[in-house]
Amino acid sequence: MTTAAATVQSRPAPRTGLGSALLGLPLFLKVLVANVIVVLIGVGLGTWFTLTFVASPDGVHWPAVAVMLVVGFAASALINAAVLRLALQPLHALERTVDHVATGDLSARAHPVLFRDPDVERLGETLNSMLDVLQEHRQLLQKMSEQVLAAQEDERKRIARELHDETAQSLTTLLIRLKILEKARTSEEMHGQIDELRELTAQTLEAVRVLAVELRPTTLDDLGLLAALEAYTDSYRSRLPIDLTFSTAGFEDRDSRLPPQVELVLYRVVQEALTNVAKHARATEVHVELSRRPGAVIASITDDGEGFNVEEMMRSRERGLGLFGMQERLALVSGQLVIDSTPGHGTRITARVPLHLTGGLA
Ligand SMILES: Nc1ncnc2c1ncn2[C@@H]1O[C@H](COP(=O)(O)OP(=O)(O)OP(=O)(O)O)[C@@H](O)[C@H]1O
Ligand SMILES: [Mg+2]
Repeated sequence: MTTAAATVQSRPAPRTGLGSALLGLPLFLKVLVANVIVVLIGVGLGTWFTLTFVASPDGVHWPAVAVMLVVGFAASALINAAVLRLALQPLHALERTVDHVATGDLSARAHPVLFRDPDVERLGETLNSMLDVLQEHRQLLQKMSEQVLAAQEDERKRIARELHDETAQSLTTLLIRLKILEKARTSEEMHGQIDELRELTAQTLEAVRVLAVELRPTTLDDLGLLAALEAYTDSYRSRLPIDLTFSTAGFEDRDSRLPPQVELVLYRVVQEALTNVAKHARATEVHVELSRRPGAVIASITDDGEGFNVEEMMRSRERGLGLFGMQERLALVSGQLVIDSTPGHGTRITARVPLHLTGGLA
């Protein structure tokens, strides 16, 4: 897994004195103070200039007035422009970061600039933490798609091998037998060959059927979530020394089916949660509950095992993909996942799917 770039930014060393106090002011006050200073200097210099050069006993010295107006206007415009440029520096830095992110560079971060502004800095920190979360999420998704692609490729290899070694061999044998049948001279010989052919065809058919069942539990498609979970929990019970109980509520009419994508998502969530119990929990008991309420269906898996620190695990960069996959699958059907666990006190995983809002395929 690629590790995310460190995102802790070093702050400039704190400055002391009036300069630091001025630089630390919010943008509005910075511009206001600078403008007041410009106006004060302008008024002071203007008065001095008027007394010295403009007002003379001979009357008004008009060229001096023109110089005063031009120089005064130009100086105040220049000073204002410089002050605004410096004061807006933090916003421009933030804008540059957002531009980088917009081009797809999620590693861009807002750095503190020389002329700091507390409000803009807070905005930058929020942006940075949002980008951290986004980058982590993207890396997890990337890791997950890599694993999905690898698993898909393995499965294809397995199916190809099975088709080649089993099905293709059987079909070749069938072809050879048909050729032999063609050459049969007596009707007894022909009947004997036909019996063998029938048996071989039945075996091939069975092999193809087993392959199809392995690829996807047909119970889920044919009989629904309840039957598929019953079959899964039965096989879990027989494989593992964990006391598993399975209860349902609101499924009195066993024939009424949930939308197919909801059934698949909940089946996979229960499957992953129970796999986690077997892998990590050291539990002696686990309870699976599936309840259908007006407008929602809820699956919960509660174990009495070791539990874990959920926050720490969610922050960990080395976390697995099971819980993340549950969240992603549930999001596809507008569902929610709640992980409730305390070290030493077991774990409860609850998946809730609204029944009127479901869309998209799981
Ligand atoms: N029921 C549980 N009891 C104790 N710890 C658990 C339980 N479920 C999850 N955990 C902890 O949460 C971590 C993350 O689980 P997650 O299913 O996301 O990944 P994983 O099982 O380690 O790997 P993967 O599912 O990708 O094979 C686990 O490594 C484990 O430490
Ligand atoms: Mg797991």
